[in-house]
Amino acid sequence: MNIILLGPPGAGKGTQARHLVETRNMVQLSTGDMLREAKDSGTEMGMMVADVMARGDLVTDEIVIGLIREKLEDKSEHGGFIFDGFPRTLAQATALGELLEATGQKLDHVIELRVNDDALVKRISGRSTCGQCGEVYHDVTKPHPEDGKCVKCGASDFKRRADDNEESLRNRLMEYYKKTSPLLGYYYALGMLKRVDGLADMKVVQASIAAILDN
Ligand code: AP5
Repeated sequence: MNIILLGPPGAGKGTQARHLVETRNMVQLSTGDMLREAKDSGTEMGMMVADVMARGDLVTDEIVIGLIREKLEDKSEHGGFIFDGFPRTLAQATALGELLEATGQKLDHVIELRVNDDALVKRISGRSTCGQCGEVYHDVTKPHPEDGKCVKCGASDFKRRADDNEESLRNRLMEYYKKTSPLLGYYYALGMLKRVDGLADMKVVQASIAAILDN
């Protein structure tokens, strides 16, 4: 089963994707994570996108479609792909449809995580991740354990993202409303769009997504 998690920055796409990877053996394809990896490892492409990402602008369609194309060639056994943060434009959505068709695959659900802007600002400003395994934390809703070690891997270096600041977040939100939110109509028209209350407790969101996947 292949799904898209769609929603603005901070909606909980990464949090829910990680849960699906753990419980359903699905493969998370986060273009944001792929771009950050390229940036951290200092590749030419990574250096090219660093400033764009720090500002909260979108990276070109050509780059992100190329990243996804490579991953779809993965023929290992798994429970399906979770597209997290991709597609973000109509051109990316069209390309994804074509790539899936060309590899004999299809999209099953597009799940929108609905969260209001005030909650997004609170979530993003409190977010940190484990530098080793990427587990996502929040200063208020999911603080680091008292012993300072990640619950998943035991590491003790936590990171905050360069684009998790107020100015960049404002820009990321505008990019979402201008370029990504039209995808809601696109997938609604294809009969694939499902909506989930992303403001609910993480476990409630997990259950709502599970109900969609199991139906
Ligand atoms: P990307 O990495 O995709 O970032 P994003 O879309 O801005 O989304 P986030 O990762 O910020 O949020 P999330 O929804 O995953 O929330 P999370 O689960 O962490 O993209 C970064 C940049 O890369 C873009 O700006 C762009 O430059 C570039 N890029 C990436 N893909 C691209 C593409 N396809 N095309 C062009 N450019 C691209 O949760 C957030 C916080 O909330 C956490 O602290 C978490 O603990 C907490 N939380 C989660 N769920 C709940 C809940 N239910 N209740 C309470 N707290 C919760």
